[in-house]
Amino acid sequence: MKVPKTLLLISLTCLVLPTFAADSGNPAQSGKFTGTQSCGTTGCHGGGTIHNESIIFERKDPHGVAYGILGKGTSLRIAEALGIKGDPAKDIQCNVCHAPMQGVDAEFFVKGLKPDRGVGCESCHGAAENWLRFHTRPDVDFQQIIAAGMRDLNDIYGRANSCVGCHLNLDESLRKAGHPELFFELDGQCAAQPPHYRDARPSLGPRSWLTGQAAALREMSWKLSLKGDENFLPRWKALVWLLQKTELGRQELPATEDFAAMQKAADGLARKAAPKLWSTPAVQTQLQEFSALHTEFEVQNSDKALLQRKAEVLVPALDRLWRELRKTGIAQSECETSIQTLHLLAMDHEDFDPAKFSTALGKLKVSLTNLSAADSKKK
Ligand code: HEC
Ligand code: HEC
Ligand code: HEC
Repeated sequence: MKVPKTLLLISLTCLVLPTFAADSGNPAQSGKFTGTQSCGTTGCHGGGTIHNESIIFERKDPHGVAYGILGKGTSLRIAEALGIKGDPAKDIQCNVCHAPMQGVDAEFFVKGLKPDRGVGCESCHGAAENWLRFHTRPDVDFQQIIAAGMRDLNDIYGRANSCVGCHLNLDESLRKAGHPELFFELDGQCAAQPPHYRDARPSLGPRSWLTGQAAALREMSWKLSLKGDENFLPRWKALVWLLQKTELGRQELPATEDFAAMQKAADGLARKAAPKLWSTPAVQTQLQEFSALHTEFEVQNSDKALLQRKAEVLVPALDRLWRELRKTGIAQSECETSIQTLHLLAMDHEDFDPAKFSTALGKLKVSLTNLSAADSKKK
């Protein structure tokens, strides 16, 4: 299928390029797509217990079936509301994220390849033509493979860029047509993807969370700078509000509503957040600072919709930081319960209750304070 150049650009943007930042995955440099079949043969990633990534992916990963849902109930209703005629999988408005290879010109595939149906290995790992054979050689190291064009997903910043293109910016027309709103939170979404790799680096959780949120802010800023999507504005404000309450965010993010300036600053924040380690006290301090925000939800007559958006970005932050703290062996069921309650309250878009949210957040603050008091007694 021939697609107009601009659409192709968006599509490739999703596939191999972040929408904004200069990253390694330019298809012109990294060669053509070779297709998911080329990864999953036995002896490669489709066999044995060691190299079974393709098997895990095929059996469990939601990306593999992202194409399939385009032919079903909700998708057909969304497509109808948008006036899409025929198969949504053939329409760029849907396949750009759900079946990215379906919208790409034949010249980007190795000869004779049948394009992948869903989101395949190369949607995240990059077009494989130039490194497919090379990357299996025992004398070649990771850096050499990256230099040959494989995307560096070990770099948390690069990882955030590879996901955010499909997981955040949805056109307003699609949302109005009934598509679920998209939220991006790198740490939780990595954990939710059925694991086909292990990554046990120190403080990965908080680093992924902050890097992902900064990348999300960059993408939202970019979207708002293009056409001022009103629906995104409260989400953008909420994220700026939250990130400016982190140590790095205070240093990196300007006090401005200039979207282009924020886009640049947010990218800087994402790059700095990716390698920056969090100590246990740093995680504790951040959790305490976030829970102290309960007073902001007490304010009468403030913008309830904006408060809901603030709650919506605050709760995943609490959740990811708390999970990191829990790794130190702390067991504190009151904190868990508070975070669960906060989650339920924050999800209530229709009837968000700031007062209840404030009370639950205040309770979390008390539990966290007791926790650190007990901690210092032990020492
Ligand atoms: C910007 C990328 C993007 C575009 C464009 C997009 N989707 Fe989605 N869609 C997603 C993501 C990501 C999810 C998963 C959301 C989640 O579960 O958090 C999703 C979820 C869905 C779901 C819900 C699936 C479920 O399991 O509940 C349906 C249905 C759907 N999309 C249909 C469509 C249709 C039809 C189109 C075209 C009109 C479309 N999508 C365009 C990214 C996109
Ligand atoms: C949604 C994005 C995504 C998709 C799709 C995906 N991967 Fe991955 N994969 C990742 C991430 C993120 C990592 C971690 C990279 C790292 O830390 O170096 C990874 C790591 C890997 C690793 C390294 C394993 C290890 O333990 O070091 C292999 C091999 C791999 N993927 C193969 C595949 C194959 C084969 C497919 C398709 C069947 C696939 N991946 C699809 C995101 C993805
Ligand atoms: C080419 C677009 C694309 C890329 C790149 C991509 N995703 Fe997805 N992802 C989707 C779509 C579309 C769905 C919805 C599939 C469905 O519901 O059938 C989805 C669903 C998911 C889901 C299940 C629904 C949810 O939100 O809990 C997780 C988890 C997820 N993706 C994580 C990731 C992570 C982590 C990365 C980056 C390492 C990533 N994705 C990269 C398109 C993409």
